[in-house]
Order: sequence, then C-alpha cells, then structure tokens
Amino acid sequence: MAIGKLVIVGAAGAVGRTLLELLEERSIAFGSITLLGRSSSVGETMSVGGQDCVIEELTPDRFRGTDVVVFCASADVSREFVPIAREAGALVFDVSSAFRMQAEVPLVVPPVNGATLANHQGLIAAPNCSAAILVTALAPLHAACPLERVTVCTYQAASGAGLRAVEELSAQAAAVLAGKKPPTEVLPHQLAFNVFSHESAVDETGMNLEERKVIEETRRILDAPTLPISVTCVRVPVVRAHTEAVHCVFREAVSVERMQTLLADAPGVWIVDDPAASHFPMPIEAANRNEVLVGRLRADPGAPEGRGLALLISGDQLRRGAALNIVEALEMMRH
Ligand SMILES: NC(=O)c1ccc[n+]([C@@H]2O[C@H](COP(=O)([O-])OP(=O)(O)OC[C@H]3O[C@@H](n4cnc5c(N)ncnc54)[C@H](OP(=O)(O)O)[C@@H]3O)[C@@H](O)[C@H]2O)c1
Repeated sequence: MAIGKLVIVGAAGAVGRTLLELLEERSIAFGSITLLGRSSSVGETMSVGGQDCVIEELTPDRFRGTDVVVFCASADVSREFVPIAREAGALVFDVSSAFRMQAEVPLVVPPVNGATLANHQGLIAAPNCSAAILVTALAPLHAACPLERVTVCTYQAASGAGLRAVEELSAQAAAVLAGKKPPTEVLPHQLAFNVFSHESAVDETGMNLEERKVIEETRRILDAPTLPISVTCVRVPVVRAHTEAVHCVFREAVSVERMQTLLADAPGVWIVDDPAASHFPMPIEAANRNEVLVGRLRADPGAPEGRGLALLISGDQLRRGAALNIVEALEMMRH
C-alpha cells in the first residue's frame, strides 16, 4: 500500500509528536503530509522528515483526496471527523477510544493480533495505552497456557494524560520545591510527590473508565471475551512510560523458567530481570523504547496449585501504547 497523501489530526500532541518521530525512524514513505490541530497549535511549525510543516486548522473539508488519516486527538474529535474522513475515501487510523469496541473495527497491537487487519473496513483502532502494554506481555503466555484470571495494578505516567499534564507535573514539582502551591488545572490533584487513583470518571459499579477500557480491550485483543480481569489504575509522578504489576492465574501449573523463555522469544518484549542487581522494569528505561520491559517473574504463592505467575512490566505508552501500533499496522498493510 503506497501512501500518497497523509493527514495527521492532533499532530502537536503527545501521541502526534511520537507518531511523527516513528514515521521518520521507520522510513514510512508518503507523497505529502498535512498536520491538523486546533487554535492553540495552528500556525506552529513542526519538522517532518527534515522539512518544515505548518499545522493547519481541522475542518470537515480537509480530507478530500487523502489516502490515510491518523486521528491523534480526543474521542469527541474522532466521533465527529472520522466518518467525514471515511466518507472522503481515506483509510482511517484512530488512537482515541471512540470506535475501539465496535466489532467491525480491528483493535490492533500488530505483534499480538495483526492478522485482524485483514478484516478492516476502512477504519482501524489502536487500543488504550495500558491495555496495549499488558497484552504484549500476556499474549505469548496465554497462547501457550490459557489464562484463568488476571489482576493488574497500573502506575501510569503523566504523559498518558497528554502534553499539558507533563507541563503541569513539571510546574508542580518546581512549585513544591519552592514552597509554593502547585497548580492543578489539567490534573485533578497534585501529582508531583504524590500518587492518585486514575482521574477518569468512576461509574455506578465503582470502576473508573480507564479500568473498564483495560478490561474490555484486553479481552477483545486476546480474544478471551469472558476472561476475569481485576484492575486498579493509578497515576504516578513519572513523565513517560506506564508500569504494571500483573498477577496471572493459568488453567494449569506453570514454571517460571518456561514462562521466561516464552516471553524472551515474544515479539515486542525485552526481559529485564536481574534479582542480584535489583534491576527490573522501570519507566526511565522503558521510555522511548518500542519493547515492553518484562521482569520480576516469580511464582505467585497466592495462586492455587502452582498456577500463578507474578510479573512487573513497563512500556512506553506513547510508542507501544499508541503510535507504534499505527506505524506497525501501516508496515504490515504495505506488504
Ligand atoms: N497520551 C497517551 O499515552 C495516549 C495513549 C494511547 C491513546 N491516547 C489517545 O490519543 C489521543 C491524543 O492523546 P494525547 O495524549 O496526544 O493528547 P494531547 O497531548 O493533549 O494532544 C491532543 C492533540 O489533539 C489536538 N486537538 C484537540 N482537540 C482538537 C480539535 N477540536 N480539533 C483539532 N485538534 C484538536 C490538540 O491540539 P492543540 O495542540 O492545538 O491543543 C493536540 O495536538 C487521545 O484520544 C488519547 O486518549 C493517548
């Protein structure tokens, strides 16, 4: 598939910028590129493949004659403009949550379920960042030995809430160190020197929206629609890369050595597991990498009959959790 005209909506955001980096790193060829945003970024110049490109305003007429459009803005923007881009004949990729659970829309982490791309009908979705990182580690285990249940606690970075949240974390840290009141305009609470339950809305069941996305999207990507998954999502004062403490129970007894071998051979996984040096997955080492770091593999004594495995994973949620899924999908569809 050759990309003639490429359009990126939300190019100046955290995911948009990462997507531009990856397009360059992976030498994805396209004829022309148009960057779109809203008033705060319109007029800003970004470098794309060594050329300056000015961000223009998103309007409904921007998609005519376009081959590929990638939406990296909010779900509301996607709900409004994705149908218009499809109507104009473009192949559309969406990193927002707007269409992820629609059965006819492939929800892809290409190393895990890239085969689902074959069934696309013009729209392809990339999953929630925590779910994408989680399935990269779970898929090779689940394929070898079916999961019976999964428990996950996340430690999510500020950039998962967008660029303005990163700026606010820095401003908060500076304010606290200067003995001043930290600003809380983007995030609901002080994140610097603190942790808090993920800021998404809590529903009538007590689950927040991020937790619901992790459960539903993990089940969909693993093709395990009834897999019991328990999740607690927490925001931590880290700039980039989400970490997750994962406890798996399998249907059969498992050995840590076998699970480590499966993970070491899995695409998109990098083992970091050195107990002697207390060196395990950390967000500062996962940031700006494409692989999900996996380690602290150990038998879980809380699980019955030797069927439990505990692990710690850390992945760049802007790469593995968002833009990399789009770029890998484009690469797969080119061949
Ligand atoms: N951050 C992550 O780790 C992550 C991971 C997976 C998925 N996602 C999803 O990816 C999407 C983007 O997230 P992000 O973190 O990159 O957010 P962000 O840093 O806040 O960037 C959002 C971008 O969208 C643009 N935008 C917002 N409203 C717009 C509108 N009405 N018209 C045109 N452009 C508009 C913004 O333009 P301005 O620059 O002009 O404000 C900005 O460039 C979200 O749907 C998010 O849920 C994020």
